[in-house]
Amino acid sequence: MPLRTERVRPLAALLPIVAVSLLAACSGDYPQTTFRPVTEFGAVINDLFAGVFRWTMLVLAVVWIVLLYVIFRFRSRPNQAPPPRTHGNAMAEILWTLGPAVIVALIAVPTIRTVFFTYREPSPDALVVDAIAHQWWWEFRYPDLGVVTANQFVLPVGREVHVRLSSADVLHNFWIPRIGGKRYNYPVQVQPDLPPTKVNALTFTISEPGEYSGQCAEFCGIAHAIMRKRLLAVSPEEFDAWVERMRGPAQEVAAAPAAEQAAQAGETGEQEAAAPQAVAAAAPASAAEPAPGSLEAQGREIFLRSTCIACHAIAGTPARGTIGPALTGFGSRWAVGAGARPNTLENVIAWIKNPQDLKPGVLMPGTQTAAPNGFPATGLSDEDVRAVAAYLLSLK
Ligand code: CUA
Repeated sequence: MPLRTERVRPLAALLPIVAVSLLAACSGDYPQTTFRPVTEFGAVINDLFAGVFRWTMLVLAVVWIVLLYVIFRFRSRPNQAPPPRTHGNAMAEILWTLGPAVIVALIAVPTIRTVFFTYREPSPDALVVDAIAHQWWWEFRYPDLGVVTANQFVLPVGREVHVRLSSADVLHNFWIPRIGGKRYNYPVQVQPDLPPTKVNALTFTISEPGEYSGQCAEFCGIAHAIMRKRLLAVSPEEFDAWVERMRGPAQEVAAAPAAEQAAQAGETGEQEAAAPQAVAAAAPASAAEPAPGSLEAQGREIFLRSTCIACHAIAGTPARGTIGPALTGFGSRWAVGAGARPNTLENVIAWIKNPQDLKPGVLMPGTQTAAPNGFPATGLSDEDVRAVAAYLLSLK
């Protein structure tokens, strides 16, 4: 059937306009773009993508030029006899077999090199972080620093980081697009018989300070879409200060047995050695110890005598629960509920009252409603909730 060119032309003229509009949409400041990596890990993947993209564009251009030539040069003309048929052109078959094979080989070399690079062994002085996925939040542990946090974590720029990925329940996927990835969190903790190769990791060095958002990239249940995380990349000095803030109160916990031992040791020299440490550790951290009589102090007291502490931990307090996210430094987080809502007083109050309203499926009870896993309601009054929310937001 002959092409009705008169009708096609206006439509064809629209194509560049549509294409330019679509491409313009890609140039905005998107926080989860993979095209502006801030690690060498992300950069090698981006470079690989760009290289493959250029190759495919070259192939596309050649194919289109030949196609257009054939369409116009051999288009059907009035009263034209049918063209002769050809069979079994050996040269053509060799060319169209060899051509793609060479292209695939050219793509395979940098691809394999990139795969090996992103799975390389970390250097011995790399900062180790455990990213443990839970339904539906992220736990971040710094085993060498004694710091535990959730959903929002901090890393220094310019230092190699080795993030070990695991899961406490089902399969999740760690993805912060500007860092690189994505990579699976296998449920290694609940299946200890799995071989160690199943522990995935990401090794990278961040080159630019900033805030990088990410999320779970594998469907993991009803609240999968609200399983976000945020990474703050800061200078090494700021990182050290953050570590001090996060674990300062925790030293009280660690030092307590030391102080007891010192007391038992009686008049030995150990006492003098241990005493200054215990005194320093017992000095209240401003975050964990609000001013007496304040709403925050009231909230702290309510928090510590409620069932909150069955699931949540706050460094420097008796709260040691590990089922839910650690709340140390909660007031510095960008969101409540792993990205459910911005971290404002009103939202934190709404969250404590009935988290199901903000994040259906969340495994946390409300003040009047039990959690989906049967954990009973907390029974906190509206006044209690306001005080607890103020206390949590005071933890910086
Ligand atoms: Cu975790 Cu999706």
